[in-house]
Amino acid sequence: MSEKQEIVTIDGPSGVGKSTLSRQVAAALGYTYLDTGAMYRAVALFFKRQHIDLKNDQAVRIALSGLDIQLFPAKHEDGDVGVLVNGQDVSLAIRTPELGMLASQVSAIPAVRAQLTAMQQAIGRSGKIVAEGRDTGTVVFPYAAWKFYLEAEPEERARRRVAQLRAAGQEVNAEELLQQTLKRDRDDQERALAPLKKADDAFSIDTTYLDIQNVCTRILQIIQA
Ligand code: DC
Repeated sequence: MSEKQEIVTIDGPSGVGKSTLSRQVAAALGYTYLDTGAMYRAVALFFKRQHIDLKNDQAVRIALSGLDIQLFPAKHEDGDVGVLVNGQDVSLAIRTPELGMLASQVSAIPAVRAQLTAMQQAIGRSGKIVAEGRDTGTVVFPYAAWKFYLEAEPEERARRRVAQLRAAGQEVNAEELLQQTLKRDRDDQERALAPLKKADDAFSIDTTYLDIQNVCTRILQIIQA
């Protein structure tokens, strides 16, 4: 299929404003918000709890065959999407810096990417979604009608993540988080499969000095033009 789909993709590194923007753009368009990172975080938590050796291909495949992930809308307008793993609510447990790092590791495993990419494509089949992640414009939805790639200086991204985590009641060390952010982005960019990168036909927006509200307005103007 080469027809453009009624899908918006928003990719970029961590802390760049993807979640807030995707939520707002989805709400403004009446589309469903698809947080693909939440799915990788859910797999990471599931593997961690099952003590799966990430280097053991067979163990990974067996674990994946017993994994069911369901996403449900956030309870608050500006909250993260909820996630059920085999019926258990893990919405809060997946939102820690540790799970972010672990999600980055599991996201480099081919079997994990294959399963989650297929799930995401199934969710997007009927269109009208705003998908955010690392590869939504390049691999998951190459025929999306509107693609955006967000960037921001690492210090600003780490600052936003610290503020977000503190607002959620989590203790964080700002310097440690900056180092983690840098490592995670490097790993996501350098992995062989579906690395973090801008799709050739994506609009690039640097959000370092921009108010999220302005970025949202700009994205909506581009979509509605
Ligand atoms: O967006 P996030 O911080 O919740 O994502 C956590 C990790 O999941 C991220 O560091 C890499 C991985 N990920 C991915 O590989 N592909 C996606 N489409 C989304 C997330």
